Amino acid sequence: MSSLFNKILEKENLNKEDLICLLNAKDNDRKLLFEKSAEIKQKYVGNKVYFRGLIEYSNICYKNCLYCGIRAGNKDLIHYTLSDEEVINAAKFAFENNYGSVVLQSGEIESSAFTEKIDKLIWEIKKLSDSKLGLTLSLGEQSEETYKQWFKSGAHRYLLRIETSNQELYSKIHPHNSKHSFEKRLVALNTLKRLGFQAGTGVMIGLPFQTIENLAEDLLFMKEFDIDMCGMGPYIEHKQTPLYEFRDKLLPLNERFDLSLKMIAVLRIVMKDINIASTTALQAIDPIGREKAIKIGANIIMPNITPGNNRDNYLLYENKPCTDEEVEDCKTCLEARLHFAGAEIGYGEWGDSKHFANKKD
Ligand code: 5AD
Ligand code: SF4
Ligand code: FES
Repeated sequence: MSSLFNKILEKENLNKEDLICLLNAKDNDRKLLFEKSAEIKQKYVGNKVYFRGLIEYSNICYKNCLYCGIRAGNKDLIHYTLSDEEVINAAKFAFENNYGSVVLQSGEIESSAFTEKIDKLIWEIKKLSDSKLGLTLSLGEQSEETYKQWFKSGAHRYLLRIETSNQELYSKIHPHNSKHSFEKRLVALNTLKRLGFQAGTGVMIGLPFQTIENLAEDLLFMKEFDIDMCGMGPYIEHKQTPLYEFRDKLLPLNERFDLSLKMIAVLRIVMKDINIASTTALQAIDPIGREKAIKIGANIIMPNITPGNNRDNYLLYENKPCTDEEVEDCKTCLEARLHFAGAEIGYGEWGDSKHFANKKD
């Protein structure tokens, strides 16, 4: 049995059936999968893990994704937006602590005031670090002009999750209106790539109605789209969202976690030199979830550097870790965790996607 599995692991091009087989791996096959993905990670991206200090800028979002705790329809949410000073101080902390890069993330707002505000913050972050801090944006779908302006001002990576590459499933987890259009998401992703951003996407794993086949298609989508980075993690239900109604249709949490690890491992095998984030949602299920993902293929970690008093209000899902912690706590904690996982931290380096560089050569 395992020899057939080994044959798949050795294949140059994996088709959908192969991917399904890998995602279904159990016992010894599962072990072989993780050994292979760990080996590929060492060979193509090395043992270093790069930090992206995460600044959760605002929890105000004009969208209503059916799974998300900060959706516009969640009336129990206390809204916040960080002041310029808070963002700048967080970026300073990242710079002084050699984090290499920061990620500016927020609920989705499309307005000229928002575009200008972010633009100003990009300039400030570049200025305070003498252009030495790398900068990733995760601010949802925006117009081409806005993306262009932010790129010109110095942002060079952009994360925009497709959430699921299956249009039918997409329509089950989003409201049906022009604000939540699958096509628009695809257009936005293509625009980011065309403008020269290192483009990242990702999906949620273990969504209600999602099949293993859907996940295999997600991996093929990422390969086909030729992404530079990926951030994906388990779906975790949130009480104040409409999708909570389907909680009895979900895989148990430990299975969603295991499937997430396998998705990371298989993606590492399929796309050897991209950057893959070990996402916080993994730790919401397993206390050492992020370390496990690093061991089997991920090479990016996003320590939260949002000022502590706002973290409780950026709850995309339940049981989100680090909400009671302060910036320094996460730093010390992650250093210890990564040491335990046998990884080295790429302090002071951008740790850009090797895939992006290799494409250009
Ligand atoms: N569980 C897991 N991830 C979630 N996200 C939003 N809601 C949830 C949830 N309930 C993820 C989405 C989004 C990112 C910012 O957070 O993938 O793109
Ligand atoms: Fe807004 Fe993103 Fe949450 Fe959707 S997933 S409601 S766009 S923050
Ligand atoms: Fe935030 Fe451990 S990473 S407390």
